[in-house]
Amino acid sequence: MNSGDRTAGGGAARGSIAPSRQYQPYIEAAWGFKNAWYPALFSAELAENAVRGVTIAGHEIALRRIKGRVHAIQDRCAHRGVRMSLRPRCFTDDTITCWYHGFTYGLDDGVLKTIVASPEDPLIGKVRIRTYPVEERAGIIFIFVGDEEYAPAPPLAADLPVRIADDANPVAHILDDNTYVRGVHRRVESNWRLGVENGFDPGHLLIHWDNQIVAATDRRMGLGALPISEDAIKIIDEPNGPKGMMNMYNLRAYKFFMENAAIGMKARGKKPYYARTSVFLPGLLLVEHWPIPGWAQYEWYAPIDDKRHEYWEVLVGRASNDAERREAEYLYDAFFEPLALKDFNDNDVFAREAMQDFYESRDGWNAETLCAFDEATIVWRKVAARFNRGIQEPPARRTAR
Ligand code: FES
Ligand SMILES: [Fe+2]
Repeated sequence: MNSGDRTAGGGAARGSIAPSRQYQPYIEAAWGFKNAWYPALFSAELAENAVRGVTIAGHEIALRRIKGRVHAIQDRCAHRGVRMSLRPRCFTDDTITCWYHGFTYGLDDGVLKTIVASPEDPLIGKVRIRTYPVEERAGIIFIFVGDEEYAPAPPLAADLPVRIADDANPVAHILDDNTYVRGVHRRVESNWRLGVENGFDPGHLLIHWDNQIVAATDRRMGLGALPISEDAIKIIDEPNGPKGMMNMYNLRAYKFFMENAAIGMKARGKKPYYARTSVFLPGLLLVEHWPIPGWAQYEWYAPIDDKRHEYWEVLVGRASNDAERREAEYLYDAFFEPLALKDFNDNDVFAREAMQDFYESRDGWNAETLCAFDEATIVWRKVAARFNRGIQEPPARRTAR
């Protein structure tokens, strides 16, 4: 592409200072932001006494549930560096033993309690691996990932969407009582930032233009949305609480494009539909009144490493008795998961993976040519650059214990 042709906010058109400088910490956060709560597993994925390994922002973590409580401990043995979750061995309720030579660590403090093959070893009581704070809420196990010295961890609610109060018809918050919470998570072969930016992208509705849910609900989603008023994008900066931004989708703040005359293309569907989107640190999305009014979709793009993220798609609805829960389950199984979480969001996954090579190998953060609707993306990058609690270093550069 000829960089001289760029006119709408892209790399070279703004002169010698790359626009990416305005949010430089974000550009550096290939491994994610640290000192933040990330989802690790659904509660149902970790049975009593089970051990499972996860990787979040380069941190390898073993989870073990004992007497209902989940413990999170470094998943690299201090001895020769194997992941203990590869072949879990636990001989007592409060320890985990490495399957190789038997280094045995306390689950609560990570201290080496004994070594199966060397019970009188002088290392016992002196060596330690790290542990992580855990919170289990709404059927999800969250881990506070970052520096061990960053203590105490802020409350989980600080890393979740803000509570929507000033709304005539607010959706349930994931921490509310009497909710139905269910979803899926899957590995996506793209950097986590491409996930976040795809999640709220006001200009990407083309990839959803012919999706099943649009046909099934006769929804008029529009081809794109352009912010036209000062308050189109609201910055969320709660004291000791969530930080992020909200796209105030409504007809006053945004211009919605329903057709593109140049190519004779029109939005499908008849029923107008605006799903407000918000994005929060450390990288999660809230879509209100989606897939249907009254429900909300949460999405996390938890970095695995600098090239992959774990994509969490979680739906939150209200259900306060068994009949409502059965109805929610029916909607989830017959509609939400196949049409929204799979078909609709499969297109988002496709787009993120298709972007990866450009951003990884072709200087995409500087070579991209952003256009008018990408203002929302720029605002998010600046918000993220400003409010994060630290940039995650690659594992090789993290200081050892
Ligand atoms: S590698 Fe874990 S005990 Fe040797
Ligand atoms: Fe999308």
